[in-house]
Amino acid sequence: MLKAVILIGGPQKGTRFRPLSLDTPKPLFPIAGLPLIQHHIEACAKLEECKEILIIGAYTTNTMSQFVNDMQKEYHVIIRYLQEFTPLGTGGGLYHFRDQVRAGNPAAFFLLNGDVCADFPLKELWHFHEERPNALVTIMGTEATRQQSVHYGSMVRDTTTQSVSHYVEKPNSYVSTLINCGVYVCSLQVFHTMADAFQKKQDGFYSGNGQGSPHPGYMSFEQDVLMTLAGTNKLYAMQVTTWWSQVKTAGSAIYANRHYLELHRDRVSKDNPCTILPDVFVHPTATVDSTAVTNRHYLELHRDRVSKDNPCTILPDVFVHPTATVDSTAVIGPNVSIGAGVTIKAGVRIKESIILNNATVHDHALVMYSVVGQEASVGEWSRVEGTPSDPDPNKPFAKMDNTPLFNTDGRLNPSITILGPLVVFYDTQWRIWGGAILYIRTPYGPPDKYNE
Ligand code: GDD
Ligand code: GTP
Repeated sequence: MLKAVILIGGPQKGTRFRPLSLDTPKPLFPIAGLPLIQHHIEACAKLEECKEILIIGAYTTNTMSQFVNDMQKEYHVIIRYLQEFTPLGTGGGLYHFRDQVRAGNPAAFFLLNGDVCADFPLKELWHFHEERPNALVTIMGTEATRQQSVHYGSMVRDTTTQSVSHYVEKPNSYVSTLINCGVYVCSLQVFHTMADAFQKKQDGFYSGNGQGSPHPGYMSFEQDVLMTLAGTNKLYAMQVTTWWSQVKTAGSAIYANRHYLELHRDRVSKDNPCTILPDVFVHPTATVDSTAVTNRHYLELHRDRVSKDNPCTILPDVFVHPTATVDSTAVIGPNVSIGAGVTIKAGVRIKESIILNNATVHDHALVMYSVVGQEASVGEWSRVEGTPSDPDPNKPFAKMDNTPLFNTDGRLNPSITILGPLVVFYDTQWRIWGGAILYIRTPYGPPDKYNE
């Protein structure tokens, strides 16, 4: 039997994701139509041996309970949320709840950072770990560029045994292009290593006056476990070449959206069975493969009939929530997710964007490289345009640059444009571009309401 632990941090984390994370906790932000960590849950639940998923974070239980209940219903696996009384770091919460992890004596557990996205190769990772009986932790690793590698955990590995001889968390200077993806398999004995680290921290805390020190239960999985185990033949790294990325900024959410849509094409294509370049008539009894591209002229006359089944032009990949209303003349895609209750009016063009629940995009507006917040409204003929921030395609192994909102000289870094929740962007022919962020604080309470 296996278990999984997902670390989701708390309202204090995810600052680069603001204002999106002010309205929805970042772990629940929809990517390709599913809350960010539902992708983790789905990957774990697919593995038959995985019997329980523990989500550890500093959000209130209230914030997470609805989601956890929904997940319980959807997947046949036990899912529980464990709230830290204060943020205890990437290791402290795990150590605090160790008895919950050990209960039932699992052979091992997965540890997943909630803010990464990938085609999680959990089965391969588990087999890799299982084949190395002395492994306490196996890290999923991937290649990054030399420049970007310093923003991650960086490791040096013996190429024959795959054992990690050296691990540095966010090094000051270049160490290795093999980086830590924030996805691990751990044996239960890892808690012995954590117990030693915990003891040392307690001793340190109480031998000083404790002032200015982090909480004595605070522990960094990277510093206190991975760095300690490096070079002892108990730490291994399995390198993957499949897509992986962090979700730190709005730009990285759009990037993740594209990849998850692509991964889940089967699911997406249920409603939009193929590429439809209007106007097309497909008889209800015909079978059209999802990869087919069909094009015919002179069917314009029958647009009403045609648009009943294919309400708008879809350039894949696109996710449209069943409760959204999309006008038949809108053109959507590629890489667009449209949330519940959204209204898209006539002549709208949307690409490379996420439209959150209950937002409205009015007639003939254009939205690209942007996130439109919940209940926000984009006025007629407006242009909401961000700057794409994908990894550099000319650099092999390049990852997303999760740049901060502002440069050191105070200028806004060009990025995805964000219309915050409830923002009304009207009227005609407004234009914003280049990574603007519009956000209103309502008079009804602090934006980080789930911190109450
Ligand atoms: N429960 C809980 N409590 N979770 C936490 C806490 C905490 O106090 N602090 C962080 N986390 C969660 C975050 O929500 C996130 O999902 C994950 O742990 C990683 O935390 P960060 O502190 O944001 O680290 P990072 O993303 O900069 O770096 C980590 O991930 C990289 C891969 O994405 C490191 O593990 C790097 O080595 C790694 O390369
Ligand atoms: P500039 O941004 O152009 O200044 O590049 P740089 O020299 O600082 O670093 P760059 O990332 O371009 O890579 C330097 C060298 O390392 C080149 O020879 C690349 O081919 C090689 N390289 C870059 N990324 C990787 C990687 O992820 N793995 C490996 N094995 N080599 C890499």
